[in-house]
Amino acid sequence: MTYSDFRRHAHALVDWMADYLESVGTRPIVPDVMPGEIRRQLPSAAPSEGEPFEQIFEDFRQMIEPGMTHWNHPGWFAYFPANASPPSILAEMLTATMGAQCMSWQTSPAATELEQVVMDWLREMLGLPESFTGVIQDTASTGTLVALLSAREKATGFSWGLDGPVSEEAEGLIVYASAEAHSSIDKAVKLSGIGLNNLRRIPVLEDFSMDPKALEETIRRDRDAGLHPACVIATVGTTSSTAVDPLRAIGSLCAEEGIWFHVDAAYAGTAAVLPEMRHILDGVHFADSFLVNPHKWMLTNFDCTAYYVRDVETLLRTFQYTPEYLRTRFDADAVNFRDWGIQLGRRFRALKLWFVIRSYGVEGIRSIIRRHIALAADLRTRLEEQADFLIPAPSPFGLVCFRLAPEGHTGEACDALNERLLEAVNDAGDVYLTHTRLGGRFTLRASIGQWQTGQRDVDRLADAILTEAGHLLENSYRP
Ligand SMILES: Cc1ncc(COP(=O)(O)O)c(C=O)c1O
Repeated sequence: MTYSDFRRHAHALVDWMADYLESVGTRPIVPDVMPGEIRRQLPSAAPSEGEPFEQIFEDFRQMIEPGMTHWNHPGWFAYFPANASPPSILAEMLTATMGAQCMSWQTSPAATELEQVVMDWLREMLGLPESFTGVIQDTASTGTLVALLSAREKATGFSWGLDGPVSEEAEGLIVYASAEAHSSIDKAVKLSGIGLNNLRRIPVLEDFSMDPKALEETIRRDRDAGLHPACVIATVGTTSSTAVDPLRAIGSLCAEEGIWFHVDAAYAGTAAVLPEMRHILDGVHFADSFLVNPHKWMLTNFDCTAYYVRDVETLLRTFQYTPEYLRTRFDADAVNFRDWGIQLGRRFRALKLWFVIRSYGVEGIRSIIRRHIALAADLRTRLEEQADFLIPAPSPFGLVCFRLAPEGHTGEACDALNERLLEAVNDAGDVYLTHTRLGGRFTLRASIGQWQTGQRDVDRLADAILTEAGHLLENSYRP
């Protein structure tokens, strides 16, 4: 591809990108395809000769884009948001163009220093303690694994990484998280070698937050049994219902007991940009590690997880390993982020976060987050006004959990009714929801947090829910 061809194609792509963002709300949110359908349209072998770019782009438009799920759709109310705002998309274009590879200071000096600056900005924006130092990881799953590996090394006097699990402490390391904590914790406990059977799932209170008394009792029992509590993971904004674990109570217990305290605020941590929401992080100063995903609610396209630690030394002792070919003459004076996590090669993620924060400004980000929280409160009120609906959990952020629970429908009958409701709302095509189970019962989740979502979209959502619920109740589902 010549430079002039590149320029021409890039302009065509940017035009397509702008049209896409402007019109994404008119597309089906999820494609109407079955597994294998897209693959069957694609050649099974790579072309031996290069193909014209126009043809490649045309195939993208005909086969790939229509086969995608559109997370940037304003009717996106599923899972949590994965926002790709225009400034973050533009930053990704530059990052790819420069072929940025940010493993050490020398391989990308500006990327390393920008990452330091942006992590400091974000720390300020969220009101995190000044003693925290940040680094960008790819995902929260990786961040939690990094935390757990650090906790494992600290608990075994840094012997596990050297000798394997042979020390007396290594035998009985135990990890604690609430019954509602994310599955990335199970994965991390498994991968860390600590073993899934050594993860204690602590019961939750009525609002689905961790019961700190139950945590304390479980830790006591484990100590009495000669085991070694190594890490407690608290969640700010659980995936099912956005419950907030009591950081102060859990953190002070961890401090007394000398247990690593990790906080997973992947989704809801962004809400702490609002001064009126800072209380969700009360007690975070006890944390040894903390993470939040700007790639969820903070307008930054996937992937970008801000990971903060109180003690950089422990992180470095856990991850640092320097072969001769990676040594540089600046190692003594500069930060090499390859030593702050698992992989060697690193993407330039700080650029998109920098673009986002500068484009919107802190106040601009705040007003979007406030809008989402207000829209969620509005939806909640509308559903609460309906006699047939049950709201099983608080909605402190952008998520509203709800269940259609008319009199006479309990247990599995109620689950089946709500499964039908979910299908009916999604089949109508205007909005898209997903579900969870709360207290064992099938529950719908409406997650409001996409950057383009406004009042009209939430109105459409409320209409779709109420209309489809009405149809279900009128028909065979009225007992
Ligand atoms: C509370 C929580 N933690 C962790 C994760 C995993 O996030 P990631 O995809 O960045 O690994 C999620 C995903 O939704 C989450 O809700």
